[in-house]
Amino acid sequence: MTFKDLREYLAYLRERNNLITINDEVSVNLEIAEISRNATYLNAPTLLFTKIRDYPEWKMVTNLFNSVEAIYNILGTRDLEGIASNFFSSISSTPYTLQSKLKSMGTMIGLGKILPKNSRAQFQERKEFSIKSFPALRTWPKDAGTFFTFSLLVTQDPDANVHNVSVYRMQIVGDKEVIVHWQALKRGRITAQRYLERRIKEIPAAIVNGVDPVIAFVAASPVPPGIDKYLFAGILRNEGVRLFRLTNGLRVPATAESVIEGYVDMNDTRLEGPFGDHLGYYTPADYYPVFKAEKFYTREEPIFHATSVGKPPLEDAWIGKGVERIFLPFLKMIVPELVDMNLPIHGLFTGVGIFSINKVFPGQGKKAMLSLWGVGQLSLLKIMIIVDKDVNVHDFNHVIYALSTTVDPKRDVVIIDNITADSLDHTTERPLVGSRLGIDATRKTKEEVGHEWPEEVAPDDEISKKVEKYKHLFKQYKSP
Ligand SMILES: Cc1cc2nc3c(=O)[nH]c(=O)nc-3n(C[C@H](O)[C@H](O)[C@H](O)COP(=O)(O)O)c2cc1C
Repeated sequence: MTFKDLREYLAYLRERNNLITINDEVSVNLEIAEISRNATYLNAPTLLFTKIRDYPEWKMVTNLFNSVEAIYNILGTRDLEGIASNFFSSISSTPYTLQSKLKSMGTMIGLGKILPKNSRAQFQERKEFSIKSFPALRTWPKDAGTFFTFSLLVTQDPDANVHNVSVYRMQIVGDKEVIVHWQALKRGRITAQRYLERRIKEIPAAIVNGVDPVIAFVAASPVPPGIDKYLFAGILRNEGVRLFRLTNGLRVPATAESVIEGYVDMNDTRLEGPFGDHLGYYTPADYYPVFKAEKFYTREEPIFHATSVGKPPLEDAWIGKGVERIFLPFLKMIVPELVDMNLPIHGLFTGVGIFSINKVFPGQGKKAMLSLWGVGQLSLLKIMIIVDKDVNVHDFNHVIYALSTTVDPKRDVVIIDNITADSLDHTTERPLVGSRLGIDATRKTKEEVGHEWPEEVAPDDEISKKVEKYKHLFKQYKSP
């Protein structure tokens, strides 16, 4: 199922009794954030607030990504890995035979379907608006102010027709100004560097809010730089995103609830934060550039999309799990020995990750580790555990068994010092520079360990079959 816009998704939820409407008057100052966090912690569905104090024109939606089930509904499938696999299998082989040529033509026609399309905008310009007309949230008591927490920053590569559409929090600091918290290695920041290299310091940008949830999901996903995020959203929706061209040349979803057109001024950096972040700590204040608004647009009776992060599991955790599954096939293309991965929710996606590999040559555990640390946002992963392919990475007991039976710390633990750190990581000595811990918990070869690896116990096949019946008996038996 493809949703045209946020409204259509909300109607879909309402039909299934999966939307809670809150008609009490609520405040953007701490109250909406606290209600929304409680909803996520208690596995409640999406919330629609209809009466926001001081913002009579707006409704607000939170808790859109409230569970893995919600992600399945939004993406229209439970087989998230299948999305990428299907895409690859349709484009990866050379069409030699007539039959495969026909199939390839079909694929190309299919590709046309997922490409972005130009469209008329559903929103109108609002001359009377300022940034302060938007119901930005204060989410934790010691936040520095109010923030856009699920708005999408749109920028475009200076040379290529490639759009970045990314969720970064933004702090309101004036009628026309917000600070953009894009971290190092994020596409917005990388693109800014490309403008700076061309001596352009005012980067055309737009802040978009309230879009079809697949686009919002893609905006929070680490799609490799160089791949247009609208195109990627088209792949996930199986239908191209309808886009409207703003006067500054950028394209934004034509059905967005609100759009702020402007530019990021790289000459003007200001202190952003503190902000209660997804690690469950306040990120200390730091300098980031300011977005300057030039035009405002909204739909009639606009809906604002927001969230609050904090200690897991909140919405970003479920998004992270969806991202993990969708991107596994992409990662396998780059790291061919990779079999499965688990970025545990409480590992915060940059803290701890477990990866299983098909090990066939000595030293491959560490080789895989270095390959994975070289890929996109995984390069920020602090602690990486590599296990053999028969270890279930989602079963912590299994992983601990592997750690305990394969690791000699002196040989199998890698520490890399003085490496880029996540800017939210408060544990490092200095900001932005930290270290990595890798543990190779694969069974070792003779070359690695200096002697034959011992044989693991396994029952005699014949006896095992013969006594199978007792297993059924034991399973039925309940001790008093
Ligand atoms: C609710 C939420 C808030 C986020 N806030 C930030 C942020 O302030 N800064 C940041 O760099 N990434 C933030 N992220 C993570 C990015 O959205 C994610 O890394 C995404 O891949 C960035 O897009 P990009 O790959 O196009 O740069 C946030 C994600 C979510 C779900």
